Amino acid sequence: MAHCRHHPLVLLCSLFVFLPSILAQTADFNLPLRAINLGNWLVTEGWMMPSRFDGLIGQLLDGAQVQFKSTQLKKFMCAEGANIVINRDRAAGWETFRLWRISDTKFNIRAFNKNFVGLKDKKIVIAEVYGTPSASETFEIIRNPNRPNRVRLRASNELFLQAKTPTSVTADYNGDTNWNDNDPSIFDINIVGGLQGEYQITNGYGPSTAPQLLRDHWNNYITEQDFLFMATNNVTAVRIPVGWWIAYDPTPPKPFVGGSLYALDRAFTWAENYRMKVIVDLHAAPGSQNAESHSATRDGFVEWGDSYIQETVKVIEFLAARYCNRSALVAIELMNEPRAPDVKLNDLIGYYRLGYEAVRRYTMDAYVILSNRLGPADPLELFQFVRGLTRVVIDVHYYNLYDPKFKQWNLQQNIGYIYVDRENDLSKITQKRGPLSFVGEWTSALDFDGATKEDSGRFAKAQQDVYRQATFGWAYRSYKCHYDTWSLEQMIEDGLIKIVA
Ligand SMILES: *[C@@H]1O[C@H](CO)[C@@H](O)[C@H](O)[C@H]1NC(C)=O
Ligand SMILES: *[C@@H]1O[C@H](CO)[C@@H](O)[C@H](O)[C@H]1NC(C)=O
Repeated sequence: MAHCRHHPLVLLCSLFVFLPSILAQTADFNLPLRAINLGNWLVTEGWMMPSRFDGLIGQLLDGAQVQFKSTQLKKFMCAEGANIVINRDRAAGWETFRLWRISDTKFNIRAFNKNFVGLKDKKIVIAEVYGTPSASETFEIIRNPNRPNRVRLRASNELFLQAKTPTSVTADYNGDTNWNDNDPSIFDINIVGGLQGEYQITNGYGPSTAPQLLRDHWNNYITEQDFLFMATNNVTAVRIPVGWWIAYDPTPPKPFVGGSLYALDRAFTWAENYRMKVIVDLHAAPGSQNAESHSATRDGFVEWGDSYIQETVKVIEFLAARYCNRSALVAIELMNEPRAPDVKLNDLIGYYRLGYEAVRRYTMDAYVILSNRLGPADPLELFQFVRGLTRVVIDVHYYNLYDPKFKQWNLQQNIGYIYVDRENDLSKITQKRGPLSFVGEWTSALDFDGATKEDSGRFAKAQQDVYRQATFGWAYRSYKCHYDTWSLEQMIEDGLIKIVA
């Protein structure tokens, strides 16, 4: 228990020796872990490396959120019940549609209620589609080459949509256009949101370009040198986000690309070379558990639930079978950041039970990490479920971001929040007889105007002070990033963060 000698809270620390789960651990590593997330490696996150999307600039990708405004009626298109109407002065939820990209020019168009825009006789309607949309829900979006936000839509009957009256849109305009406002087949398209994840990059570049692009990325973004760098800087583990399609490597379902499994295999070897540990983290579950780009969602809806449990357990089973005998394996995380209330607690617990059992069929040693739900959820909601399970860890993610209050606070206030509120949050989930605790994501990035990298260094120090109480450990996010404060490599090189063993 070498880590205890340096621990400021000697009392709390000495309790650890009575925890059977720690006594039982193999002798070659100590808890708590000091880990780094290898984000944007095997699961794409565009914001962390925007240049990966350079070849797709100006294109409509999967999940683009769009609004259509008739230039003649000067009203927005709206999904109203089973109808498409064109009578709204302002655009919000019902007037916003999400694209599924079929090709550069062909798309399915999904409304706010998850139904698709379709063609019925000559009318454009909202069609309930179970499974994959068909030709009648597929539209060509033709953009004016000189003014790309001016478009026409062509339905599967080869005719153009037109907004003749506010109460209906029909696909019966046959002919050319001069792209003028008074042409009822012309719409202005507002692009109000988008995603840059694995789905967008693979389906955007397509099967001729995506495989090589991603393999180059996997080979170059993280190398053995990085493991050496981490190990020499007192990092003891990596948390590696993976996507569900890794279980189908080398021929995953489209548009995903094979090869991430080979990269993960090599990461285990590199970790073993430097006596580091690997946490395999199922970051992108089938159907998407949180609608974020990093869940590899197609369009930003959370679809994961009861009907996806079997498929997700199969992925865990695959990972456990493949890595159970690798000495670097320390834990498998069953799912990153399920979002409440879309992901229901009952479904999640049902899945966590089966996922836990799947790991235990292969190994009694590996820890099983359960991510708390994001959003409105009780941080202790998994505690009853985990009673009686062995080597279970609760993962929480702490960011002074994504909430306007942090923007309004200066450095001292942000740091104060760590020492008081976060310390309190972490104590609540760090219980003597409970599961181990893990701050599986945190960063030195700050949100207030004028925050400097030096500020971030001090902020990181405060977080290390507090998060070292997590009994399983913590994991910085991330190792590499376009933004320096999100890159532990950069912050260490700049001398602004030091990881103390
Ligand atoms: C792991 O190693 C054990 C002991 O050598 C062996 O019995 C087991 O079959 C191995 N598991 C897998 C999935 O290879
Ligand atoms: C690693 O931790 C030890 C012990 O706290 C410390 O002395 C050393 O400077 C650290 N190494 C680096 C590279 O930060």
